[in-house]
Amino acid sequence: MEQYVIKGGNPLVGEVEIGGAKNAALAILAAAIMTDETVLIENLPDVRDINVLLDAIAGIGAQVDRVNRSTVKINGSTIQDISVDYEYIKKIRASYYLLGALLGKYKHAEVPLPGGCNIGSRPIDQHLKGFRALGASVDIRHGAIVAKAESLRGSHIFLDVVSVGATINIMMAASLAPGRTTIENAAREPHVVDVANFLNSMGANIKGAGTDVIRIKGVERLHKTEYSIIPDQIEAGTFMFAAAATGGDVTVKNVIPKHLEATTAKLEEIGCEVEEFDDAVRVRATKRLHRTHVKTLPYPGYPTDMQPQIAVTLTLAEGTSIVTESIFENRFKYADELTRMGANIKVEGNSAIIDGVKKLTGARVSAPDLRAGAALVIAGLAAEGITIVDDIVYIQRGYENFEEKLRSLGAEIERVTCEKEIQKFRLRVG
Ligand code: UD1
Repeated sequence: MEQYVIKGGNPLVGEVEIGGAKNAALAILAAAIMTDETVLIENLPDVRDINVLLDAIAGIGAQVDRVNRSTVKINGSTIQDISVDYEYIKKIRASYYLLGALLGKYKHAEVPLPGGCNIGSRPIDQHLKGFRALGASVDIRHGAIVAKAESLRGSHIFLDVVSVGATINIMMAASLAPGRTTIENAAREPHVVDVANFLNSMGANIKGAGTDVIRIKGVERLHKTEYSIIPDQIEAGTFMFAAAATGGDVTVKNVIPKHLEATTAKLEEIGCEVEEFDDAVRVRATKRLHRTHVKTLPYPGYPTDMQPQIAVTLTLAEGTSIVTESIFENRFKYADELTRMGANIKVEGNSAIIDGVKKLTGARVSAPDLRAGAALVIAGLAAEGITIVDDIVYIQRGYENFEEKLRSLGAEIERVTCEKEIQKFRLRVG
């Protein structure tokens, strides 16, 4: 089992390049099978989730040609199987994007129903409601969702909750459903827009992505394209908070500053200086930060995927902060780990009440999920002494070269596999 070992206390200083957005890439890769022509996708993050989805896509018979770390060619003309294996869904929920993609293309898809996950129960009823509205019959059989239609047809769909996944899945199937589809109360996240742009580059007719009403005119077929994925706003935000929590000065490059506005606003509120450039942001923390309240909301609100990172930063900020999670039910599992590092954090219902302390001290902690794992690394970088983060497999799901990037900013962090390597690290850092 791999772990991170960190010696905290160095302010992060320098420049870091952000990769492609994992959550956009997951949907775009699935959508790429919707044409029989070859699609070239660039700026792909080289992270575990992406590699599992590529295996799932190859598993149904599509040709997947990894041109290099960040570029892949996909050809869906050789697909023989419309049934996705449970092995993939178990590893990565977003394999369910193959449901919308296969249903749109072949009018038939079978994908195992994903279970709950570490951040709580995650129903997909809105996805299924959308497919039914498009004319598909949707049944659960032996743990799998079976969606089938003689033919699909455009429809008017009002989502009961703002869901990124449902918006994207429905958008994909509706792209090849004759007639007009309207999705109301649609998610507005940047990756929803990116997937719409990708589908449009394949010949789809989608308008309004980025607003809460998306209108789709079904087309007969989709064609080849070459497409570059947008930068990852969550990876960028993670480095911004790492700069803030360590009292650093980091320029985060290859970003779309507009996508980071909620994060930027909070950093400024707690006393950081944030400078925006065309495709970069610089975060400087020159004095002790101070308290704030934050509530996670769908875009353009403060992202749930940035909740643990701000919470860690607030554990060191002066005053009492309240962090409220309104999207997922179980997203404070890291709080007990932070307590072990000396934080004063108490969870009540869907809020965490944080009384800022002057310092954290290194401890052995365990990553409960992807973003909380990254947040614990930030805590370790800001803490006095050595922190060991277990279960970093979660972090590897979504951060490319995480430790290399942090090291380039002056962090003392190593990926290790055994106690001996931890001892070696301890000796080296003194
Ligand atoms: C996506 C992101 C995830 C992010 C989340 C919210 C991907 C691969 N993952 O997840 O990183 O944290 O958006 O920004 O892009 N819901 C229902 N019924 C549904 C669908 C969702 O009740 O059919 C609820 C969920 O339980 C949750 C809320 O709606 O409370 C939002 O979920 P959703 O936006 O769908 O998240 P994901 O697409 O799963």
